[in-house]
Amino acid sequence: MAGKWLDEAVFYEIYPQSFKDSNADGIGDINGIIEKLDYIRELGCDAVWMNPCFDSPFVDAGYDVRDFYKVAERYRTNEDLKRLCTAMHEKGMHLILDLVAGHTSVECEWFRQSCLPEKNKYTDRYVWTDTVWNAPNNVGNIMGWLRGGYDRDGSAAVNFFTAQPALNYGFAVKDEGCDWEQSVDDEGPMSTRAELKNIMKFWLDMGVDGFRVDMAGSLVKNDPGSQGTISLWQDIRKWLDREYPDAVIVSEWGEADKALKAGFDMDFVLHFGPSHYPDLFRTEHPYFAGHGSAEAFFDVYLNNLAKTKDGNGLICIPSGNHDMYRLARTLTPDEIRIAFAFLLTMPGIPFIYYGDELGMNYVEGLHSKEGGYYRTGSRSPMQWDRSVNAGFSNAPASMLYVPQDTAHMDQINAETEMNDPDSIWNEVRRLIALRQQHPSLSGRSDFRMINYHGYPLVYERSSGTERILVILNPSENDIRMDTGTAGTVLYSFAQKEIRDHVIPAKSAFIILQ
Ligand code: GLC
Ligand code: CA
Repeated sequence: MAGKWLDEAVFYEIYPQSFKDSNADGIGDINGIIEKLDYIRELGCDAVWMNPCFDSPFVDAGYDVRDFYKVAERYRTNEDLKRLCTAMHEKGMHLILDLVAGHTSVECEWFRQSCLPEKNKYTDRYVWTDTVWNAPNNVGNIMGWLRGGYDRDGSAAVNFFTAQPALNYGFAVKDEGCDWEQSVDDEGPMSTRAELKNIMKFWLDMGVDGFRVDMAGSLVKNDPGSQGTISLWQDIRKWLDREYPDAVIVSEWGEADKALKAGFDMDFVLHFGPSHYPDLFRTEHPYFAGHGSAEAFFDVYLNNLAKTKDGNGLICIPSGNHDMYRLARTLTPDEIRIAFAFLLTMPGIPFIYYGDELGMNYVEGLHSKEGGYYRTGSRSPMQWDRSVNAGFSNAPASMLYVPQDTAHMDQINAETEMNDPDSIWNEVRRLIALRQQHPSLSGRSDFRMINYHGYPLVYERSSGTERILVILNPSENDIRMDTGTAGTVLYSFAQKEIRDHVIPAKSAFIILQ
C-alpha cells in the first residue's frame, strides 16, 4: 500500500491552463503554479492533482497525449515540472499527475506508426480490426472506430473522442474465431502495459508522488465485470509496491468496489456511473440545496465503504472537477459552505477543485474550448484579486484561455475573500484546519451513519477515544431531532445554535463529544 501521507492529505485540483499565467500568453503554466503554492498551503491543502500537462494537440484539453515523456510547451519544460516537485516537497506538499492510460492523441508517434500497413513495433499498440470494413457495435469499453484515412486496412478503436484512439491492453473475452482481438497477455498488450509502467517510472523518478488515472476502468476491452482491467492494475500495483512503495494511485473509475480491488489507493465518486453523486449537489433539486434526497447516494456509498473496512483504499467525494458543473451553479453561497462542512468531514480524502473554495461561478454560454463543451464554463481562469484579468494573466483579456466571470470578479477573488472572515474561503480554511487537528476526521477514521433519510444529515466520526458528531441541515426548515448533541461545538455555520433539540434551517454543526 502506498505512502502514509495520503491518509492525512487534503487535495487541490489544478487545471493548469487556468490557474496562473506567468508569461502573459493568456494560458496558465507551471511557473505560475509555483508562484501560488503558498496560497494553496495557506488554505490548508497539502497535495495537488494537476490535470494533464504533457505534449498534446489539445483536442481534449491535454487528455489526448502526443508525447508522454514531455511537458507541453505552453506549460514550459520538464525542468519546470521538476522544480515544481522540489518546491512542493520543500513545503511538505505532494504532487500527483494525470495519467491518461487508456488512449493517446491521433498525433502520437506510436499511432502514426501503427497506421502503417507494414508491420512495426507499434502495429499492436492500439486496438485494430482486421479490415476497414469491420467496425463492430457494442464492444465493451470501445466508444467507436476510426476508419479510413490510413493505409493500414483496419479500423482503430476509439476510447473517448475520435481523436483518442484506444491503446491495446487486450480483450478479456474474445469472440470465437475472431483473430484481431488479442488476449490480455499477448505480446502487443503486454508491451503496451510495459510502456505504461515506463511512463509512470519516468515521472516518479523525476519526483512526482503518484497519479490520478484517467478512465482507469476502460483499459481491457470486452471485459464483463471489469475482471481483466482489475487484474491488470493489480499487476501494476504489485510492481509499484516493489519499486515505488510511496507512490499513490487514484482512479477515475467511479466504482470503488472494483477500483479498490484493482489496487488503487482511492477512487472518486463521479457525476457518471452508479454513485448518485449528482443527487447531492448537481441535480435540479440537489440535497444540499435543501429540496433533495441523499438516500440513493448513501445506499451505494455505505455499501462501498463497508468494503473498504479491511483498510484497502479510500473513497473520495470531490467538490467538483474539470468535467462537472461548478457547485455555485446549483447551490447558494450558504449552501456551498454547508456542502464543504460535509466534504471536509467525510472519510476518504477531500479534493477541492480550484476556485470552488471561493465559490467561483460556472460561466454560462461560453464557446467550447479544447473539447470542453459544457465543461468549458467550469474551466475559466482563477480569480486572484481585483487587478487586470483578476490577477490571472497580464495578457489582453481577449487572449485568455477561456473568458472569465467578469460580472463577479470584484467580489469573488482570493484576495478579497482572504481578507473577509465570513467568506467561503475562510470557511473552507477553518474546516480544513479542523480536519487536520482531529484524528477522528482523517481519511481512514471510523464512520457511523446516524441519519440520511430526509434532513438533517447526521453522522459520527471517531478514532481512539475521540468522537465527533456532524449535523448538517441544508433544508429550509428547523427540525426537531434528538441527536445527543451534548459536547463542545467545534464549528457552527453562521454561529447558529441547537436549542431544545431543534436543528435550525441552513445550519452545520461539528461537535466534539
Ligand atoms: C476523463 C477526463 C476528461 C476527459 C476524458 C477522456 O473523464 O476527466 O476530462 O475528457 O477522460 O480522456
Ligand atoms: Ca503562460
